[in-house]
Amino acid sequence: MHPTRIDLPEKNRRKLVDLLNARLADAIDLQLAAKHAHWNVKGPHFIALHELFDGLAGALAAPIDDLAERITTLGGTADGTLALVARRSALDPYPPEIVAGTDHVESLAAALAVLARGLRKAIGEAGKLGDEGTADLLTGVSREADKQLWLLEAHQQAAI
Ligand SMILES: [Fe+2]
Repeated sequence: MHPTRIDLPEKNRRKLVDLLNARLADAIDLQLAAKHAHWNVKGPHFIALHELFDGLAGALAAPIDDLAERITTLGGTADGTLALVARRSALDPYPPEIVAGTDHVESLAAALAVLARGLRKAIGEAGKLGDEGTADLLTGVSREADKQLWLLEAHQQAAI
């Protein structure tokens, strides 16, 4: 941990950094999966899903940067390499063989739900560690994750 004048005890900052790095890994993992789906989806709804999945990847860009920079603000190291993300992510490996739009919607929704659950849990944990700033950041990212989940699940909430 790097020294900082931020008035949170180092042991709290260390826990906050771990909390944030875990969700950062999930978010980067999901962003890569969304791009994979954007590139490889096929089927009758191709163009809508191709654009939807790119929108998900794009919507994650600012939250990823915000999570990473909160980590460094707190004196920690943002674990942004592929190897570190792979080790930390709570997401199941994205199925590489799927092609159909419905399968990509389901797989991305499942992954996004894991991220969203982790974010919601982390809000309370950050508050308990005395860091309402991080809790507020996580709240915003959580709200965006919920919205992105709606955009995916809307494809599943009525019959064709
Ligand atoms: Fe593209």
